[in-house]
Amino acid sequence: LAPYKTLSEEVLRERIEAVRNHFGEELLILGHHYQQDDVIEHTDLRGDSYQLSEMAAGSSKCRTIVFCGVHFMAETADILANRPDRVEARDGRKVDVLLPDMAAGCSMADMAGIRQVEAAWADMGEIIDTEQVIPVTYINSAASLKAFCGRHGGIVCTSSNARAVLEWAFERGQRVFFFPDQHLGRNTALTMGITEEQMPVWDPYALEMGGNEDAQIENSRVILWKGHCSVHQMFRPEHVAKFRADHPGIKILVHPECPRDVNDIADVSGSTGKIIKTVQEAEPGTKWAIGTELHLVNRLKAEHPEQEIHFLSPVVCMCATMYRIDLPHLCWTLENLRDGNLVNQISVDEETTKWSLIALERMLAVK
Ligand code: 13P
Ligand code: SF4
Repeated sequence: LAPYKTLSEEVLRERIEAVRNHFGEELLILGHHYQQDDVIEHTDLRGDSYQLSEMAAGSSKCRTIVFCGVHFMAETADILANRPDRVEARDGRKVDVLLPDMAAGCSMADMAGIRQVEAAWADMGEIIDTEQVIPVTYINSAASLKAFCGRHGGIVCTSSNARAVLEWAFERGQRVFFFPDQHLGRNTALTMGITEEQMPVWDPYALEMGGNEDAQIENSRVILWKGHCSVHQMFRPEHVAKFRADHPGIKILVHPECPRDVNDIADVSGSTGKIIKTVQEAEPGTKWAIGTELHLVNRLKAEHPEQEIHFLSPVVCMCATMYRIDLPHLCWTLENLRDGNLVNQISVDEETTKWSLIALERMLAVK
């Protein structure tokens, strides 16, 4: 990889495009909205986590997906692009999924490990009947957690369908165990009339030190895992107050991974896809302060000069792991592919694929 870091942006661009032309429709480059502009420029399709899942699930002609995003997204693409019916339609051919930098993880996803979740489930079983608990994992989680949900009658959600998924879950059980993001779980359940008191936070570390209160778990509707996004937790209610005081009429638009005290006072809350659509559909001259990853907000600013767009926080909130995908990594991955080397392949094992696919398909079937 080192020689690629010394190449100019112009050279990298040309070489990336040369490989794209070489493969044509056999290569699909997907990009999440948080990617840098110069990476987005080389993607075939971009989207939020839900849209990217659908794009991967629908891929028919391609042989390789290069995923410009983070690890859990590439895992999901591998599982969905290689569904048995898709593979059959391609005469038995599987799609290879590559992640340009293996260090592109998600700190929130890392906050819930499969052993911790299994231990929590067993401990919970000492307090309540887990037959009546539906596990729901945010898509920002390892495939092993999605498989856990598949095995235990649960489901996956994204920020764009969390409410519909929770409704699905409450049709099937008395309670929900939601991981890893407490904020998305709490913000969504609050819109359904569930109160904060009915949502205890399960802290896997506190448990080792003495445990959660049994009564709280017994009275719960949603048990929230103690996880969060380090980027979105930086947005504060003071930032909202300052913008409202300095810019009368401004609208606050945030991602539901923001803590409750910000989400509750925002004008609009939604996935990255919804954030983009909201800005696209607004009247020219609308003023926005947006609380989500910096690269997306900057791109919206550049693409919508007819609107007045501000970044909600005075400090830089960017996703350091999304940022790891850059032109040198992309070019290196693509040129290796052209030369017959699959580098940084993401391949989920068969057993995990089988069970996580069940939870993902339940999600895709929820309207
Ligand atoms: P979206 O599904 O809204 O794109 O969110 C993905 C993500 O990681 C937000 O931090
Ligand atoms: Fe994970 Fe937060 Fe980055 Fe999204 S913004 S990928 S939740 S660390």
